[in-house]
Amino acid sequence: MVLISGRGSNLQAIIDAVNAGRLPAEIRAVIGNQPGAPGLARARTAGIPAHAIDHRGFATREQFDQALMRQIDFYRPRVVVLAGFMRILSGAFIDHYAGRLLNIHPSLLPAFPGLNTHARALQSGVTVHGASVHFVTHEVDGGPVIVQAAVPVFADDTPEILAERVLMEEHRIYPLAIGWFLAGRLSVENGRVLLDGHERPEQGLNRDIPPSQPPSG
Ligand code: GRF
Repeated sequence: MVLISGRGSNLQAIIDAVNAGRLPAEIRAVIGNQPGAPGLARARTAGIPAHAIDHRGFATREQFDQALMRQIDFYRPRVVVLAGFMRILSGAFIDHYAGRLLNIHPSLLPAFPGLNTHARALQSGVTVHGASVHFVTHEVDGGPVIVQAAVPVFADDTPEILAERVLMEEHRIYPLAIGWFLAGRLSVENGRVLLDGHERPEQGLNRDIPPSQPPSG
């Protein structure tokens, strides 16, 4: 089950990974909170049931989340994947899917939680930026990190250029993390994610996943 709000390029990366046999999974449905979200069209094109549940039709966040949960649970998914889902979720929702709710965030958490991560990274002068897949907990962008990928930051980057570089890594690590989860390879101990029972020594920057190459010239 994948939840989206907009473009859906991460959704597309997951669809492509499934279709290519790199991710042994079935995407049971896609739900978007914006009826016109291009991601919903991507799902339909791929033959995946796609539903729009417009949050503006609900008086409270809790009521929207209840409707969302009903639609999700109809499909009995093993994992709920937030892929550019731009809504803060209520505590009841997070508790309902505890341990099987994943999110991708465009920064190397715990750096730059929240919005506008690329502009903030540039402003702060960091030379390395990236993306994180994490379990969702009550702390926004604060749950245990499953995998991260780093990209270099160049002096002449704009937020848009940097976002594009990070996005390429997002598309690589999200299917990877979902595959690990579905294979039962992940566990959480003392707030740290273990893969096959082991803490990844390089957690923070996964060096077995090479970062994208800086452009030559
Ligand atoms: C991604 O950068 C993701 O990390 C963030 O929102 C963006 C969604 O992009 N949470 P897309 O809809 O998957 O193309």
